[in-house]
Amino acid sequence: MKMAVLASGYGSNLQAIIDAIENGEINGKLEIVVSDKKDAYALERARRHHIEDHYINPKVFSVRDEFDRAVIALLQERKVDLVILAGFMRLLSPVFVNQFMGKIMNIHPSLLPSFPGLNGVEQALEYGVKVTGCTVHFLDEGLDTGPVILQDTVPVYESDTVETLHERIHSVEHRLYTRAIQLFSQGKLSIEGRKCIINEG
Ligand code: GRF
Repeated sequence: MKMAVLASGYGSNLQAIIDAIENGEINGKLEIVVSDKKDAYALERARRHHIEDHYINPKVFSVRDEFDRAVIALLQERKVDLVILAGFMRLLSPVFVNQFMGKIMNIHPSLLPSFPGLNGVEQALEYGVKVTGCTVHFLDEGLDTGPVILQDTVPVYESDTVETLHERIHSVEHRLYTRAIQLFSQGKLSIEGRKCIINEG
């Protein structure tokens, strides 16, 4: 299985994926890490592990779709089977989603459909929920609306700040994303309507 990761920031999920590939938990090759941010630490993580890193400057394109088409071209050249969004902060257009339908995963720091969009952690804290978590899902054309692959819970403490809660969510994310990618690589995921079925048999 050939994979690509799209990331805009720190890349701790990317690191968890790299580690899982290196220790044999995920059977596949990470072909390329693409970022829309030149100084994303995720790109540095790729370089450290001798993985191709690629920065695409969104500002050189006059139309949003053109950025997406540039990414599509890169991923097609490398014959990528799975596109993994790991803290990628740009909305992808229908052009991109349709090109890789059923082959794009995203991770979101809340129990969807609660608290979609930006600041999922902050939204949960402000709402006052006692339990939040994270969700790995396939991408569709909506905002954090695609079929849910895996979810896990994280308790919210009264003493929590956005930082402490996000840190606790992050460590659960790393396990969850690895597991979802593993299941995909083993051909155990199928999409039926808006549901993702896990065929463990
Ligand atoms: C994660 O919390 C993820 O759920 C969200 O963005 C964050 C990325 O963190 N989509 P990192 O860059 O992987 O550390």
